[in-house]
Amino acid sequence: MAIRRSVIRGVGHYLPERVVENSHFEDTLDTSDAWIRDRTGIERRHFAAEGQTTSDLAIRAARAALDNAGVTADQIDAVVVATTTPDLTFPAVATMVQAGLEMHHGFAYDVQAVCAGFIFALSNADGLIRTGQANRVLVIGAETYSRIMDWTDRGTCVLFGDGAGAVVLEASDQPGTNTDRGILSSDLNSDGRYRDILYVDGGVSTTGTAGCLRMQGNLVFRHAVEKLAKTAHAALDKAGLTPADVDWLVPHQANSRIISATAQKMQLPMDKVVLTVADHGNTSAASIPLALSVANREGRFKAGDLIVTEAIGGGLSWGSVVLRW
Ligand code: ACO
Repeated sequence: MAIRRSVIRGVGHYLPERVVENSHFEDTLDTSDAWIRDRTGIERRHFAAEGQTTSDLAIRAARAALDNAGVTADQIDAVVVATTTPDLTFPAVATMVQAGLEMHHGFAYDVQAVCAGFIFALSNADGLIRTGQANRVLVIGAETYSRIMDWTDRGTCVLFGDGAGAVVLEASDQPGTNTDRGILSSDLNSDGRYRDILYVDGGVSTTGTAGCLRMQGNLVFRHAVEKLAKTAHAALDKAGLTPADVDWLVPHQANSRIISATAQKMQLPMDKVVLTVADHGNTSAASIPLALSVANREGRFKAGDLIVTEAIGGGLSWGSVVLRW
């Protein structure tokens, strides 16, 4: 029986011009390039320029994805932005993107699931398409984490970067099997009992300030290693597939040790894993669409490839989307 699926028609990204190498932190903190590389795999990250906002990055990534898809903003029905670093408390960054693209129709809103934000947004946009509420959705992950860093905390400020990635999701009638193109399944999870191990210590109804990111890194690390392979397996299972069917793992780019542990649990060789953490650091909700866009630009994906994405972040919130390119 034919069913309506959401196929990725285009993908694009934008990284701010300023590149900051690990050695930058050696001047002000008790840290080293060697420690950061060894413990995280990160070598450099991009930081937004003064005055450059999350919506600025998102609009550029959106334009790149539209170009790659060969469609115009007129042909988009909805904009969904995953972010935890919005320009303002409201309106949604998505409405700023909508205005930036001179798109005066459709609807736009933000999704907030921290580093898992793009997974949640992608799954949500898939729902819009499957239920016929939209035919084409621009799904964006965009962040400026440099704005919520405590520059005296070596355990967090060396880890994050700024950037944005976007995909154009499009409705497509498919036969309804797991060889279809498009999103085949998703698995979403949250557990608010763990909200204190990764959070920002400010907000509208508490301090009235944006606050700084706080993390018990080793605890988050343990949850990540335990939960990411599980959610990827769960999503594959829902699609009637196994890790043996996977062509590419496109994981959230937080730490290369977490990524390799997850790949190992899934029995996937590292040459099937897209790794961008060295050049981007952890860009939270932007990391998966950035990695998808970089890998696509390098010509690594071919039509029909099975891709598993997975992420975990504050909440804790975690999940996985399985899709065929
Ligand atoms: N340079 C040098 N030493 C450091 C640094 C640094 N930049 N950061 C921490 N250390 C020290 C610690 O102070 C500690 O020293 P001590 O033993 O004297 O107390 C030592 O290194 C070990 O600290 P751990 O936190 O146990 O180090 P770990 O090996 O776990 O690495 C890291 C820390 C990189 C943060 C890791 O735990 C990690 O990647 N965690 C998960 C991050 C993640 O995935 N977050 C989820 C997404 S983020 C989001 O949702 C916003």
